[in-house]
Amino acid sequence: MRKPVSLITGANGEIGHGLIDYLRRQDFHDIVALDLNPIDPQMQRYCAATLTGDILDDFLMGRLVTEYEIHRIYHLAALLSTRAEYSPETAHRVNVEGTLKLIRLAHEQARWHGHSVQFLFPSSIAAYGLPNADTKTRAGRVREIDWNFPTTMYGCNKLYCEHLGRYYAQHYRQLAAESAPSGVDFRALRFPGLISAFTLPTGGTSDFAPEMVHAAAQGHPYKCFVCPEARIPFMAMPDGVKALILLAEAPAEKLTQRVYNVGSFSPTAAEFRTLVIKAFPQAEISFEPDPPRARIIDTWPADVDDTPARRDWGWQPDYDLPRAFNEYLVPNIVRYYKEQKARDEHRIHG
Ligand code: SER
Repeated sequence: MRKPVSLITGANGEIGHGLIDYLRRQDFHDIVALDLNPIDPQMQRYCAATLTGDILDDFLMGRLVTEYEIHRIYHLAALLSTRAEYSPETAHRVNVEGTLKLIRLAHEQARWHGHSVQFLFPSSIAAYGLPNADTKTRAGRVREIDWNFPTTMYGCNKLYCEHLGRYYAQHYRQLAAESAPSGVDFRALRFPGLISAFTLPTGGTSDFAPEMVHAAAQGHPYKCFVCPEARIPFMAMPDGVKALILLAEAPAEKLTQRVYNVGSFSPTAAEFRTLVIKAFPQAEISFEPDPPRARIIDTWPADVDDTPARRDWGWQPDYDLPRAFNEYLVPNIVRYYKEQKARDEHRIHG
């Protein structure tokens, strides 16, 4: 008998860490975690199985389904927006072809076990592309259907995968003589920049905010690569996980769309710096914008309209900006680096 599980791809990434930490407290399907790098040993004990490998590796994926019956997929693996610009075709392979493979897997699994497979997909504010700063200011809180003209490969990939998911969920093989639903229950969130107290993102463009606060907590100087006035939405990681879980648990009949904005707070980089300095008065944070990366931030919206998520499945963030700093980020980051220092000293002195 194969075991029913939830599969998490990109499990070693930031959202993966937060999600596994949440799911381990729940009595749900076992977790099978997949990542290009070995899963963090702290996380391994919460997973029924961990696999190291590439989502593009058909052999690995084939092996996976011989052992497990997959009922839900959190497909988190992706190359983020900055990294993707260095190798756009590789990003396309990972972000689009990889997603298609996982959607196919969901479809095949649904056919095997006869239940639909939920496919949770983190899309992004990178799916938007505003042409210039004036338009961005005028646009304010954007709806899901506005300004879908991404300028990054990552944004194009995310936007296309939203369509791919919607196609499988609603229109799969619509011309077949006996057309049947694909069994893929695709649901996506357009995440803002996510900030975790325990991990740092790699290769994103919204990384300046998490990098700023983590550098300050470690006593390192930080040069911010966007302008002080740059404004995009952000969210504390526990709210990111909460949004994924709420969307997964929402009854299908409540969903009026497949892709939802979720908002939380939206400070400028300068406002974010002020809060970091309030928490870490010794912090040395300067602005040295890197024009190409700063331009990407200028194409992302200043804020998102998340009315449909609030209406359809009760979305509401727990953390506004002060609470995110005072109750989540600062205490946890301070503790995290203090413990890390103690671990390092223990290693050195035995
Ligand atoms: N955080 C992502 C990035 O910067 C956006 O979704 O690429």
